[in-house]
Amino acid sequence: MNVTIIGTGYVGLVSGACFADFGHTVTCVDKDAAKVERLNAGEVPIYEPELDRLLEANRAVGRISFTTDPADAVGKADVVFLAVGTPSRRGGGHADLTYVYEATREVAALVKGYTVICTKSTVPVGTGDEVEAIVRQVAPDADVDVASNPEFLREGAAIGDFKRPDRVIVGAETERAIGVMRELYRPLFLNETPIIFTSRRTAELTKYAANAFLATKITFINEMADLCERVGANVQDVARGMGLDKRIGAKFLNAGPGYGGSCFPKDTLALAATANDYNSPVTIVDSVVEANARRKERMAQIVIEAAGGSVKDKTVAILGLTFKPLTDDMREAPSLTVVPMLQKAGAIVKGYDPEGMDEAAKQLDMHYASGTYEAIKGADVTVILTEWNEFRALDLLRVKAMMRGDVLVDLRNIYSADAAARAGLAYRSIGRTDAPAGVPAPHVSDAGRIDGQSLRKN
Ligand code: UDX
Repeated sequence: MNVTIIGTGYVGLVSGACFADFGHTVTCVDKDAAKVERLNAGEVPIYEPELDRLLEANRAVGRISFTTDPADAVGKADVVFLAVGTPSRRGGGHADLTYVYEATREVAALVKGYTVICTKSTVPVGTGDEVEAIVRQVAPDADVDVASNPEFLREGAAIGDFKRPDRVIVGAETERAIGVMRELYRPLFLNETPIIFTSRRTAELTKYAANAFLATKITFINEMADLCERVGANVQDVARGMGLDKRIGAKFLNAGPGYGGSCFPKDTLALAATANDYNSPVTIVDSVVEANARRKERMAQIVIEAAGGSVKDKTVAILGLTFKPLTDDMREAPSLTVVPMLQKAGAIVKGYDPEGMDEAAKQLDMHYASGTYEAIKGADVTVILTEWNEFRALDLLRVKAMMRGDVLVDLRNIYSADAAARAGLAYRSIGRTDAPAGVPAPHVSDAGRIDGQSLRKN
């Protein structure tokens, strides 16, 4: 089949590479001439494991190409995917659909023969209807069906998620469009991936519902982590105990510094905005958004508390700046809240990230180290903010020896209090009172604070 993808962002590029790998002939269109030139020269503008290899292999056999000119690509396409950005509009949280509608107008004028125009970007309920209206207005005689095929891939695991998804959701209103989409995803029939056909509006809402639910799950366990600290319990054990219940599931129950990224923050806001528009508020999602924003600020406070109440003139090493490992994406990363707050409190902040330093440097004015131990060297406090593998394998004795101080704040709970104590580090993790078996639960003072909970040392 001939597949054309408008937009070479994260979703567009990964979808293009994977559809080409399925055996389709893919053309990716982008207005950014420099980007297209780089892609045609074999450069990959984002960091995503396996993507460069997949693009190269399919480019070499002519199954994927890149262009700024949509005319030819759209004319011969069986399916045109709209994979352009849908950022949050300023104020109100609605998704900005300018790019989607612009692309629709352009594509509608160029289609030839029967074509499915399909949104892959996350778009609010009703966008497909609007896309269809634009097509009918621009090209009343065009033989077009409009479908919705939301993408659920995660950054850092995008290729695997696309090629072995839990499910594919297709919102299509005609048998003909259903037939085309079924053919497109035929390679997934081999591994028995469920392909769910729904109405267009249902598909659009499903994507938001899934993302908001996952954001809720994370926020729930984050609040449980806070409560664990108060009552003297261990959030990892709570999560394990909850997660083994098949109705709950073990995934997305890792307490951390709050969710970030290009999807959860934007999509929770957009869902809440849509719900308000339809006078059917999603109050849970409203509180998730609020709690997550508070959480990122709370992380800076935790660092300050762990440093003994002040970070003034202290050097704080931040390990991990991106919103999660295996990406260079800084969008809505907790570091964007934590670093400026620590600086405001007087800290000298030194950051290091295996892939995200170039992106980080555009947004965070701080010292950048060239490696993990280079960041740690001379620090009073070391903070693990993103759980990159190389931070999971730290030599804690070396960490202690290289630091000026001895405080390790582990906001991803990757170390144990015992291991940190053995290295002579004062250790603060989240949601774990970390009391070894047999040690009485911490005393909760009248103020509701746990005495002696926050830092343990041998
Ligand atoms: C997410 C969805 O998972 C994906 O289906 C959708 O298409 C896009 O949004 P992504 O943003 O790439 O994917 O990353 P994900 O792995 O879901 O993590 C999102 C955020 O949640 C990160 O900040 C991560 O650190 C945080 N998170 C995730 C937790 O804090 N705890 C968890 O248990 C899981």
